[in-house]
Amino acid sequence: MAGNRTLTIVKPDAFAAGKAGKIIAHLEGADFKVVAARVMHLTTVQAEEFYGVHRERPFFRSLVTFMTSGKCMPLVLERADAVAELRTVIGSTDPAEAAEGTVRKLYAESKERNAIHASDSDENASRESRFFFAESEIL
Ligand code: CMP
Repeated sequence: MAGNRTLTIVKPDAFAAGKAGKIIAHLEGADFKVVAARVMHLTTVQAEEFYGVHRERPFFRSLVTFMTSGKCMPLVLERADAVAELRTVIGSTDPAEAAEGTVRKLYAESKERNAIHASDSDENASRESRFFFAESEIL
């Protein structure tokens, strides 16, 4: 059975533009409950580790530079079928391809500066949640 938690990040583009509140309200409007949240500024080492799976991709260095360019906001979210539902709500990686009304269509600038991250599997949701939060911080 699909899990009921996933990890999201309001990325530095959206956070700096003052869109964090609107994005979280959008997610709550889609029945997600916030069960952990923090504001932080990722270090290069943290961003490289978090996106390690993309290390060989041509956009890796640029992605790390972007993700360390300002504050971001990781959150753990809860609802039924959380991973799949969040990916539907945020839309395609590239906002040009994202469906109308999705978070990325509304708030993303580009394929890289795309406002929000979402885990792509239950396994990664657990791994990514543990990356940012101790078990005792997820309520
Ligand atoms: P995210 O869902 O956080 O997962 C990996 C991130 O890499 C993605 O969102 C984008 O920010 C970035 N990304 C993925 N593909 C590209 C690409 N082709 N060019 C630039 N950035 C990309």
